[in-house]
Amino acid sequence: MNPRLIFRDISRSRFIAEYWHKRPLVLRQAIPPAAVALAPDELAGLACEPDIESRLVIHHGGTDWSLRHGPFEEQDFTRLPARDWTLLVQDVDKHLAEVAALLDAFDFVPDWRLDDIMISYAVDGGGVGPHTDNYDVFLIQALGRRRWRLSDGVFGEEDLLPNCPLRILKDFPVDQDLVLEPGDVLYLPPRVGHWGTAVGECMTWSVGMRGPSDLELLAAWIEHLAHRERPHLGDSIAPDSGDPARLTTDDIAHARELLQGCLPGDNPDFRRWLGAHLTEPKPGFEIEPIDPPCSPEMLRAWRREGQSLHRHPWARFALVQPDMESLALCCQGEALTVDPALEPAVTLICRLRHFTLDQLPAPPDTTRLDSLLAELLTRRWLVTDD
Ligand code: SIN
Ligand code: CO
Repeated sequence: MNPRLIFRDISRSRFIAEYWHKRPLVLRQAIPPAAVALAPDELAGLACEPDIESRLVIHHGGTDWSLRHGPFEEQDFTRLPARDWTLLVQDVDKHLAEVAALLDAFDFVPDWRLDDIMISYAVDGGGVGPHTDNYDVFLIQALGRRRWRLSDGVFGEEDLLPNCPLRILKDFPVDQDLVLEPGDVLYLPPRVGHWGTAVGECMTWSVGMRGPSDLELLAAWIEHLAHRERPHLGDSIAPDSGDPARLTTDDIAHARELLQGCLPGDNPDFRRWLGAHLTEPKPGFEIEPIDPPCSPEMLRAWRREGQSLHRHPWARFALVQPDMESLALCCQGEALTVDPALEPAVTLICRLRHFTLDQLPAPPDTTRLDSLLAELLTRRWLVTDD
């Protein structure tokens, strides 16, 4: 199944212009329920896996919330109260191909911004309480109904419930109150207060975005620079000073110049670094290359057989043009130099998560394309169906 996010009452371009990063929007019947069908038991099974991040949130009433992290055991689910709890499993797209397929519905979002699909299961009254998130999210109602209360409030750290294991807002002035049915989607931009509670048994899929904060980006850039020889701050002694403790205006100006010299210009080094940085995997999702490597000859045979390839579920791609003559395909924190003659094929490889070799536009010299595909298969940024 290759779902699309269906824009009915609003076009995709109007959504991007008027709502994306700006305002919440409900898209009714936007995803076919068959595209978001995962059995609650299967989700509980994932929460028992040691390498999968999961949480169990119980609301005991009032300001009393508890949080437990997985992995869980089957008995943990038999001892739960009848209501007011939810199980949340992170990165389900990285583990189940049928869940990753939903990401095709969000192909208007840059690939490097797609973080994960989190899936929650809740019994009546269950939820994670009123809160804000730092990233855009599409909340897809997959099973049952969920009530969403939204707030126009602006919240800070001081608005959080003290001594609570979750980031829950103390007071939550409600400005919108709605119920999502299966197939409905709620888009939320960053920092909009939201509070979802299950109305009966319910499952919600959250397609979450990512993107570094300014300080995270700066810290990563500084770390990149730290591998090179750096200039040091000297002093600027005024010949007639006799005042060794004083920081002069020249000292201050030099320090600022030194700092400003660290900021990147728009040059090939920065462009390659940015593409690599934005596609870095989260810890635990590093892709190991295959050994022995894949050869271009294998590609020729596969092309004859009509082999199809797909993107590794942990891979996020960014295509950058470091300068007029070069192209780099970035993934997993690396920037791979690509022959610019292959741009049409590479653009399609980046757009499609799944393709057959004969779908790629053939460049004048297919051996170059086969060498690139062999490299991508060796790195396992692309994988075969088996
Ligand atoms: C959920 O409970 O599935 C959604 C969590 C959220 O509000 O971000
Ligand atoms: Co949230």
